[in-house]
Amino acid sequence: MVDFTVVIQNIESELKSEWHHEPTGHDWEHIRRVRDNALRIQQKEGGDPIKIELAALLHDISDHKFNGGKLDEGSIVAEKLLLSLGVETEMAKEIGTIVGQISFKGAKVANEAHSIEAQIVQDADRLDAIGAIGIARAFAFGGNRNRPIYDPTIPPVQHDNFEQYAKGVSHTINHFYEKLLTLKSKLNTPTGLEMAVKRHLFLEQFLEQFLSEWNTQQQ
Ligand code: ADP
Ligand code: NI
Repeated sequence: MVDFTVVIQNIESELKSEWHHEPTGHDWEHIRRVRDNALRIQQKEGGDPIKIELAALLHDISDHKFNGGKLDEGSIVAEKLLLSLGVETEMAKEIGTIVGQISFKGAKVANEAHSIEAQIVQDADRLDAIGAIGIARAFAFGGNRNRPIYDPTIPPVQHDNFEQYAKGVSHTINHFYEKLLTLKSKLNTPTGLEMAVKRHLFLEQFLEQFLSEWNTQQQ
């Protein structure tokens, strides 16, 4: 049987060199936090820790936001990488499937993460999209895509299909209403929800302060 400690070390070092200082909030440090928080949730909620750790490490390996919109690509790349490192076929396939289920696809789009492992990795990924780090990542991503910070004349949209969500080019404050504020009620596990409470509150406080500073006429 393959030595998973070695597999994890190999993947870690590849991701560290490839994603070091990536500028849109999808850098190695994001992957590290998702892995650590996923394993923390696993301690309370169960699930296979090896599948969780590998899926967390590989969850953004070929994300639709960076590969021209191809939703299945992450699964395929993750599975191939695991096979090349000697992981058995069934396990590699299962982890690939989890990787394909993690991403947010629109406020009104049904969640596909059904296994406990997928649910935990998704919760950990979503924790990193809210709170202080979530705010920093949203503006880093928006700036990288040349999006304005805010435009009060453009209202947010709650997308009911992935194509429309992915095509969206709105300002970054809308991303809070279209995604970030919706995440708390979409978390899968009680432990994830517990970890999200402070972060969600911080998003609400940030928006309140942001809008009060924006509306100079009302000060
Ligand atoms: P997911 O696959 O669920 O989108 P990721 O780990 O790829 O999760 O990270 C998504 C993060 O990228 C968001 O939480 C946000 O910080 C940033 N992001 C994605 N789309 C936008 C957008 N339209 N505007 C601002 N930030 C965005
Ligand atoms: Ni992620």
